[in-house]
Amino acid sequence: PRIVKLAVIPGDGIGPEVISEAEKVLEAVVEGSDVRFERTTFRLGADRYLATGDTLTDADLSAIAAHDAILLGAVGGVPGDPRLKDANIERGLLLKLRFELDHYVNLRPSRLYPGVPGPLADPGEIDFVVVREGTEGPYVGNGGTIRRGTPQEVANETSVNTAFGVERVVRFAFAQAQRRRKRLTLVHKTNVLVHAGGIWKRIVDTVGAEFPEVAVDYLHVDAATIFLVTHPARFDVIVTDNLFGDILTDLAGAVTGGIGLAASGNINPDGTFPSMFEPVHGSAPDIAGQGIADPTAAILSTALLLEHLGFVEDASRVTRAVEEDIAARSGGARSTSEIGDAIAARLRA
Ligand code: NAD
Ligand code: IPM
Ligand code: MN
Repeated sequence: PRIVKLAVIPGDGIGPEVISEAEKVLEAVVEGSDVRFERTTFRLGADRYLATGDTLTDADLSAIAAHDAILLGAVGGVPGDPRLKDANIERGLLLKLRFELDHYVNLRPSRLYPGVPGPLADPGEIDFVVVREGTEGPYVGNGGTIRRGTPQEVANETSVNTAFGVERVVRFAFAQAQRRRKRLTLVHKTNVLVHAGGIWKRIVDTVGAEFPEVAVDYLHVDAATIFLVTHPARFDVIVTDNLFGDILTDLAGAVTGGIGLAASGNINPDGTFPSMFEPVHGSAPDIAGQGIADPTAAILSTALLLEHLGFVEDASRVTRAVEEDIAARSGGARSTSEIGDAIAARLRA
């Protein structure tokens, strides 16, 4: 058998609810094949912090890094929970994993599946992928506060953009575009962020010369939000920095029928570290514990995981099962596990 060592981090809120369904689907898709998932579950997140005070220990990190891939639900408590004030789960856990495991590509595909009721009256065909840089930008934590709490307080958060870091993600994005519809859109804010925007623009121009078949265009991020709503069909590959990519992909999720469908991969293309797959959404404290979260985003994240590991046929079977399930949705409310069961059943049929 081919053994895949999978680290599973269910996390907080709806994380464990959607991850159970994703695990169900993973088991169903490899049933009868020679692939076997050897899963280790890591209890990490706000609940663990509240119980033990730990966010992500060095031992956790090295144990996770010893796996072939990671499946994560969502981490983070109720925004504003005073007990989590010093925890910083997002930075100390999620971003720490992305940074330490060098997930420099945050791949976030967006498709409007047939039959999905979206908010747009006439969306056309939506099928694009956001290649969001995952290890730099304003996320690095290069900032500080002086004279804190006084009227003279100064708070800085520096956006870090290295030639090395920008070039490797831009190169990945061009390779994606080359394999897809050969259109690449750089999104930034070069009219204001002249230094950070400038390096992105110059590197896209330079790398673009190696991909003469790929048509390149550029949009300021504010205008990009307009086109994502008015003309989303124009996009094929969007490459952008960590923060703009975060914002654009929630919007992309919303225009393609809801954040409950949006999957992502935090990828280390070099294969030095395991890549991590997770829904774009968070722990959704407002609906946690009710069994009503949509597990589709987590399930589609397993398709990205399978594809990354080279199980391309299994990946497309999962995607197809999800497509069929979506097309058969009548609008009647189903529970989280009913959706997972239905998709797993299609894989076994
Ligand atoms: P959120 O994505 O958790 O929720 C936003 C809205 O979308 C909520 O109304 C929620 O009910 C809804 N929603 C999200 N996922 C859904 C699903 N699968 N099915 C149906 N509805 C769904 O964003 P938030 O409220 O800003 O954040 C909550 C917590 O999650 C915070 O602590 C935040 O930091 C964290 N977070 C974690 C991740 C992650 O682990 N990758 C991502 C985003 C936010
Ligand atoms: C996401 C989330 C994270 C991000 C947060 C929770 C750190 O919003 O995965 O999109 O900003 O990247
Ligand atoms: Mn986000």
